[in-house]
Amino acid sequence: MQLLDGKAISAQIKSEIKIEVENWISAGGKKPHLAAILVGEDGASETYVASKIRSCEEIGFTSTLLRFGPETTEAELLEAVESLNKNSDVDGFIVQLPLPKHISENTIMEAVDSSKDVDGFHPINVGRMCKGLPAYISATPFGILEMLIRAGIETSGKHCVVIGRSQIVGLPMSILMQRNEYPGNCTVTITHSKTKNLKEICQTADILIVALGRPEFVTADYIKDGAVVIDVGITRVKDASKKSGFAIKGDVNFADVAPKSSFITPVPGGVGLMTICGLLTNTLKAARKEIYK
Ligand code: GUN
Repeated sequence: MQLLDGKAISAQIKSEIKIEVENWISAGGKKPHLAAILVGEDGASETYVASKIRSCEEIGFTSTLLRFGPETTEAELLEAVESLNKNSDVDGFIVQLPLPKHISENTIMEAVDSSKDVDGFHPINVGRMCKGLPAYISATPFGILEMLIRAGIETSGKHCVVIGRSQIVGLPMSILMQRNEYPGNCTVTITHSKTKNLKEICQTADILIVALGRPEFVTADYIKDGAVVIDVGITRVKDASKKSGFAIKGDVNFADVAPKSSFITPVPGGVGLMTICGLLTNTLKAARKEIYK
């Protein structure tokens, strides 16, 4: 079993981006600028956004954090989005999800200018990705593809099973794994809460990507010997022994599954750390106008 070490791979990618930023600036380019909108008081979102902002500083980007209270209306948020769309100093921005229930995430995502949509959530970017056109690939799928590439994992002709059909992970991941390039060329099965015989389907997976949000759901009996196991789950579970009061659990029971796998991502320290790299890569592309001229 080999560990797909998100900490090491993400550190490597960040140092590569940092050099690219330095080169871009010495060639006369402007410092890439990422803005983030955070609405409400969700603890996990606070942590993620703080980490995104910190990463920007580490690699030489400008960053701006815009905070809004939990009572913010959809109209007020749309106004903030519009103002970032128009702000020519901002290359790309994100609206951290989830949003409070009274705000439609789809409405907000569609309001973001697709050329600044560094999360890759706008229908134009999703559609372009599906057609194999240049697009911002969303952060988690980007992170997973990079892990496969950097570990040199063969994907062509393999059976890839994705558990979960979410807009931000399962759905784009299934599209990317079947496309006619590397990583890709898999035969993909996408499974979800209504899937029958889930365990039997997983037992045929050469590559299993788990993104259903149920801690330690996947056990060794789901796994074919030598499978590549990618765990996207990040759930906070109460743990009085931790200073924070919670532990982070993946969707895979790591101790049980690891001995049967060829490659596996740990949680924490796996896919989660890789996601920021996708966002930073997209922001650099936005600053260089690589996708939208
Ligand atoms: N919430 C969970 N993952 C993400 C992400 O990749 N982007 C945004 N904006 N919100 C998220």
